[in-house]
Amino acid sequence: MHVAIFGTGYVGLVSGTCLAEVGHDVVCVDIDQAKIDGLQRGVIPIYEPGLEPMVKANHAAGRLKFTTDAGAAVASAEIVFIAVGTPPDEDGSADLQYVLAVARTIGRHLRAPAIVVDKSTVPVGTADQVRATIAAELESRGVDIDFDVVSNPEFLKEGAAVEDCMRPDRIVLGSREPASIEKLRRLYAPFNRNHDRIVAMDVRSAELTKYAANAMLATKISFMNEIANIAEKVGADVEQVRRGIGSDPRIGWHFIYPGAGYGGSCFPKDVQALARTAAQHSLEPTLLNAVEAVNDRQKAHLFDLFVRHYGAAGVLRGKTVALWGLAFKPNTDDMREASSRRLLQQLWDAGARVRAFDPEARDEARRIFGEREDLVLCDTDDEALQGADALAVITEWKQFRSPDFEFLKRSLRDAVVFDGRNLYEPAEIEAAGIAYWAIGRGR
Ligand code: UGA
Repeated sequence: MHVAIFGTGYVGLVSGTCLAEVGHDVVCVDIDQAKIDGLQRGVIPIYEPGLEPMVKANHAAGRLKFTTDAGAAVASAEIVFIAVGTPPDEDGSADLQYVLAVARTIGRHLRAPAIVVDKSTVPVGTADQVRATIAAELESRGVDIDFDVVSNPEFLKEGAAVEDCMRPDRIVLGSREPASIEKLRRLYAPFNRNHDRIVAMDVRSAELTKYAANAMLATKISFMNEIANIAEKVGADVEQVRRGIGSDPRIGWHFIYPGAGYGGSCFPKDVQALARTAAQHSLEPTLLNAVEAVNDRQKAHLFDLFVRHYGAAGVLRGKTVALWGLAFKPNTDDMREASSRRLLQQLWDAGARVRAFDPEARDEARRIFGEREDLVLCDTDDEALQGADALAVITEWKQFRSPDFEFLKRSLRDAVVFDGRNLYEPAEIEAAGIAYWAIGRGR
């Protein structure tokens, strides 16, 4: 099938590449000429495991094209995806200007019947706005072309995006038109083998499904972080509690890891946007507000542990802290809303210097913070420890999981580790003579 995809961010680029991989003819459109030029030369703007070779192979095979020529892309497509960003507005609601700008472009260039698919995370009712925007453009051109707008939210996770896209747990399709569902069913057939993963529903329910999924996952995390804080106070170990509750299939093992709070481009933004939607309909989003408030507090928790260890924030003045991890989670270079950013700021405010290492996010950190004398971006985890007083771990990259504790003890002047992701066994690390502070582990 001939597919056009607007937006070459995470969702657009990964979806486009996976659709090309299974044989569709895909053209990715972006207004950013430099990004398109780069993609044509094989420069991938994000780090995502497995993506680069797949982009290059499909581009070389002619199934995956990159362009800024929106008109040509729309004119030749039977399915047009909208996968542009929906950044938060000042009040937390999703800013739809990019989505609606694409809708206008589609309306201006449509030549033949097509299905327009909303893949961006958009508030309930957006598909109707997209439909009205396209219809208005067609009317002003004086043409009557049949089109449908389908909501098809994306559930991929950064760091596992290609895998999630090739092997989705579900494919949610929202439309009133059986013919649209049928056509998308054919588009997705290569990803929908063995058992049917398509969940067809009305447009508004599909739009709300995306927010409900992310809000539920964020709720699980904030819930566990609250339990962790209680565990800390009552002398219990949240890791044992986690194992105790996860075995109940109604609770499940996933997304109950306490830590330094959730970050990324999705959970913080989507929880806020859903709360905003509720408020716009005169509902008090009590739970969603609490989920966000708990997370906000949790991002500051690791620093609270520093203060508890050293007795006062002032003691940190002049100290050097090694920081392992900058990205909001492993296998990505993305630092949007990352918990590391809060900790860095708190450490700097307290007068500490930081030597940070992250396997992928170094360039991103340099872009965000520029050159500053209280931040050294290191090439290895060991290098970050050089001359450090304490170590903080904030991203659970695999390579941080089993350090040599004896070496840590010798390297860190104050022999103390603050673990924002509960990677180590307290007894083991403490046996090496290291003071160990983790999340909800009974101190
Ligand atoms: C999230 C969802 O997991 C995807 O299903 C969704 O498609 C995506 O948002 C989106 O809306 O586009 P993502 O933001 O890539 O994916 O990252 P997650 O793996 O969900 O992690 C989010 C944050 O939660 C990370 O900071 C992670 O460290 C934290 N987390 C996760 C915890 O603190 N505890 C957990 O148990 C799990």
